[in-house]
Amino acid sequence: MKTNRYITVLIAIAIILSASLAISAEKSLYERIGGEKKAREIVSDIWDNHSKNPIVKDRFAKSNPEYVKQRVFEIFAAATGATDVSYGGLDMKAAHTGMNISEMEFNAVVDDVLAACASNGVQQQELNEVLAILWSVRKDIVNSNIITDTLVSSDAPSKPHAHKEEASSSSNKAERDAHYCLKSHEC
Ligand code: HEM
Repeated sequence: MKTNRYITVLIAIAIILSASLAISAEKSLYERIGGEKKAREIVSDIWDNHSKNPIVKDRFAKSNPEYVKQRVFEIFAAATGATDVSYGGLDMKAAHTGMNISEMEFNAVVDDVLAACASNGVQQQELNEVLAILWSVRKDIVNSNIITDTLVSSDAPSKPHAHKEEASSSSNKAERDAHYCLKSHEC
C-alpha cells in the first residue's frame, strides 16, 4: 500500500516536472530575460554604457536619448520574441547607412549590450542568444572596408599609417578584434 502511494507521488512529480520543462522550453527569449520591465532597464543601461564608451560615445552625442531608447527597446523586444511590441523604426541597413561604422565600433556596441544584459541578471544561455541576434545584423551595419586608424588600443604605435599596414596582416587584425571582445563570449 505504502509502495503504491510512493509510486503515485513519483509519477505526479514527474508529470509536473515535464509539464513545467515544456512550458519553460516554449518561453521566448524576451520572457526569459524578464519581459518589458527588464528589457527597458537593460536598454537604459545600454544607453549609459554607450555614453561612457570612448569608442562610440561621439556617435550618439547629438541623439535624443528618449527617442533612441524607445527604438532600441522596440527592436530588442521584437527580436527576442515579444508578441506585444512591434518595431517602428528603420531597418538596420537604412538606419546605419552612410555612417561608415567599423568592426571595432560594432564590437564595442555588442560589448555594451551584453554588459547591460549581464548586469541585469541575464544568464549565459540568454547572453549567447542575444549575441547571436546582434551578430545576425552585423553585415547590415558594418562597413567592412573601413580600417579604424585612431581607435586602436592605447599601446598601439603612434605612426600615422601603422594600422593600415598592420591591417593587411590577418593575424594582427584578429588580435585587434580579440582585444575588444568580451571575455565572457567567443568572438
Ligand atoms: C549592434 C547592433 C545594432 C543595433 C541592433 C542598432 C539599432 C539601432 C536602432 C533601432 C536605431 C534607431 C533607428 C531609427 O531611427 O529608426 C539605431 C540608430 C543609430 N545607431 Fe544603431 N544599432 C546597432 C549598432 C550600431 C553601431 C555599431 C553604431 C555606431 C557605433 C550605431 C549607431 C547608431 C546611430 C548614430 C543611430 C542614430 C541615433 C539617432 O537617431 O540619433 N548603431 N540603431
